[in-house]
Formats: sequence, structure tokens, C-alpha cells
Amino acid sequence: MMRFILLIFVLVKSGCAQHPSALVEEFHPPLPIQVCDETGCQTEDTSFVMDPSRRGLMSVADNEQTNCRTSDGYDPVLCPDGLTCAENCAISGFTQEDYDVKWGISSEGNAITFRYLTDYTIGGGGYLLATEDKYKMFKMKNREIAFDVDMSKLPCGLNGALFFVEVEEDGGMASYPSNKAGAKYGLGVCDGQCKHDLTYYGGKVNVDGYAEEGACCFEFDLWEANAWATAYTTHGCSIQGYYLCTGTECGDGDDRYNGVCDKDGCLYNSFKLNDHFFYGANESFVIDTRRPFTVVTQFVTVDGTDSGDLNEVRRIYVQDNIVIENSFANYHGLENYNSISDDFCADLTAYIGGANYAASVGGMKGIGDALDRGVVLDFALWADSGSYMLWLDGLFPPDADPATPGALNGPCPADSGRPDDIIVDYPDAAITFSNIKYGTIGSTFRRKL
Ligand SMILES: *[C@@H]1O[C@H](CO)[C@@H](O)[C@H](O)[C@H]1NC(C)=O
Repeated sequence: MMRFILLIFVLVKSGCAQHPSALVEEFHPPLPIQVCDETGCQTEDTSFVMDPSRRGLMSVADNEQTNCRTSDGYDPVLCPDGLTCAENCAISGFTQEDYDVKWGISSEGNAITFRYLTDYTIGGGGYLLATEDKYKMFKMKNREIAFDVDMSKLPCGLNGALFFVEVEEDGGMASYPSNKAGAKYGLGVCDGQCKHDLTYYGGKVNVDGYAEEGACCFEFDLWEANAWATAYTTHGCSIQGYYLCTGTECGDGDDRYNGVCDKDGCLYNSFKLNDHFFYGANESFVIDTRRPFTVVTQFVTVDGTDSGDLNEVRRIYVQDNIVIENSFANYHGLENYNSISDDFCADLTAYIGGANYAASVGGMKGIGDALDRGVVLDFALWADSGSYMLWLDGLFPPDADPATPGALNGPCPADSGRPDDIIVDYPDAAITFSNIKYGTIGSTFRRKL
């Protein structure tokens, strides 16, 4: 009788597909943030969920005893294709201990720390949740976001990052009925790179490793940084929301400037813009990354109203209670720029080269429209086994003449950033984000003491 009931349960369950695990209840590290306006700030009880790529995938039919993955891919019986695999296999939850010990992610008060651990080389990341099974949606046009960050333990080659991405609030459950795990398990992932190699996409498991479809959506990189370099970057798209691309629209290879998203992005990096004394890890720098500081990003509209088009993204820092305006570009003809705007993206690409594809996919107005539809906050800590993060913190491409405008992105040496070396040389590498606040312009930090 017991067996019979269980069998019915399994059959009913397997009708749903891409199930959450029935065995391990998912833990979400609490990460409260604050929403602010002229009258002050209020706490929101948000939490963090780790992305699904490292989660187990276990057979539903035998109560999650059989692994749907094999040493070299996926079990051919359970996972002959992505949809069947989603039907047959359940996605594992992580306990608090998994988050902390296994993946190096822990929260305390309003802070979350990501440690760079030895048992994985690509990095960890995840998303901010409003509730157990819904992402926190931010509408950022005519608003700002501020966070404190401790970069002191992040060497050359690592990238501690905070992004906005236009992921769906429920993690794709309504759009793809085979996805029954949703935001609670970090599903529904997409970004401006239209990746083909995500573990899950469109309600399916990526059993081939490289899917024909790519998962595209609007992305804004608030923060990509280590102790020696930092950038913030737009990655606009001509599509809205979560979009599975095929063919040319994925923007792969030679189609880079024919895709639906701007993969290069329009990027502001003080060092790349030839101010070599603004940001770094000693007393020579305006922002001394040996001590924590606040990063403010303002999404400014043309007329200062919520309905106006976005026309500028500004950056302000606060360190030791001193408000520090962003550095200005230090190239001839670009001296008036210390923020991202349509003119900046056009003049910068004209000066250092590049396609200004940002303009082709909708420019600042398009960025504002996406920020107005609602975006999810995405955390990451990663190393770069392909180009060793030199596009962020060193000479890139590595064979460029360092005198070429825009070729030097930071002071990191050409041989830095090898993931295997970082693990050996910097066992304590970590980044802590804390005190996340968002709200009306000027409401999240103090202009004067
Ligand atoms: C600070 O770091 C920069 C970049 O590595 C270096 O050139 C400079 O000499 C350092 N200054 C001090 C005072 O250590």
C-alpha cells in the first residue's frame, strides 16, 4: 500500500518536470536591504539564493537515489534530451552548511561574503530573493542603488561583481511549465552574453553542455572589480525580458554585432580612461581599496522624473565619510566625461575603437526601459580561465601596445589572474558586500556629514 501511494506520488510529480528536491530543504542566507526616500530608509527582509549550476540533479523515480549526471555528462536513460531530463530529475537544495562550507557563501546582518574556495575554479554567485520563491524586482529608472564593499582581499585576476539582469520574477516557472523549481533554486538565469552553456534554460536541462539556444536578457554591471581595477558597464538588448536566441541573433563569433544584445557593452573603467591614480590598493589612490567604501550608482532621467527617458548613469563613491565624485576620462576630447551616456559611448568608441553597439540596441533609452520593467540583483565572484581578467585589470589584448588608448585596463601584470595560481597564492580571497540600499536619487547616502 505504501509503495502504491509512493508510486502515484511519483507519477503525479513527474508530470510537472524540473522539480525541486523532496529530500533537502533549500536554505537562503538572509540578506536584508533598505529602500529609501527623502523621509528615510526602511528594511526589506530579502535573502540570497545560489545559482543552480552546481546543484545536484537526482532521479525522481527512485526518491533521488540515482544521479542524473555521470562522470562525463548525463545519464542517457534519465536524460536522453533536456526536457525529459527535467521531467526525470530533481534539483537539489543546499543547506546552510552547504552554502557556507562547500560554496564559501555566508551572510551576517546586512552583509554577504563570497570566499574564493579551492574546490571550484570558476566562482560562485546567485540572486537576491524577495520571498522564498520570488526574486526581488528592482525598478531603477530615476533611482539609485548604494552598497558597501570590502575589496581588500580580492587580488588581480578575481572579479567580485554585482549585476542587474532582466530575469523573470518567478525564475521562469510561468513561462516554462516544465520548470517547477523556479527562483527558489536560482533558475531562470540569463544575461547580455546570450550564453549557450548554462546548466538550465527554458525549462530544460542543458544535457549537451552547449545548447542551440542562448539565454539572453538585459544586463547592467553595477560593479566588476578587484582591489586594482573596477568597471561599470551597460549591456543593452533589442529584446525584452528573458529571450532564447537561435542563430545570428545570439551574436556568436562573427555575428557579435548582429545579435540581440550588446556583448561588448559601454564600459566605464577609470584606469582604462587613463586615470591611473583613482582606484587601487595603496595610499597613492583616491579610493584606497585596502579599506571599505560605498559605491553609489544613479540612473538619471533626462527631466529628473520617473517617466523621462534615461540619459545618464552616474557613479559616486564614499570612503571615510567623504563623498568622492567619479574620476574624469583623461584622454583628449573625453575630459568632460565621468559617467555613461549616449555621447560618452559614441565618443569613447570613436577614440579607442569598437563598434558602439550600445547605440544599435537602443542606447540609454533602452537601458532605462529595461530598468523600468524590473531587474534582479545578481552577485558573482569569479576567475577567468580564458583571458585571466586582463580586460578588467591589465593589458588587453595581451599583445597590444600599452601606449594604445584604452589598452591598459589596470596595473595587473600580464602573468596574473591564472585561476590555479590564485587558489594557491590567495587562499583567503573574498569579497563582502553590505548595507545595500536603493531609492530616490540622493536618498541612500549623505552628501555632507
Ligand atoms: C601603489 O600601487 C601602484 C600600482 O601597483 C604602484 O605603482 C605604486 O608604486 C604604489 N605606491 C605605493 C606608495 O606603494
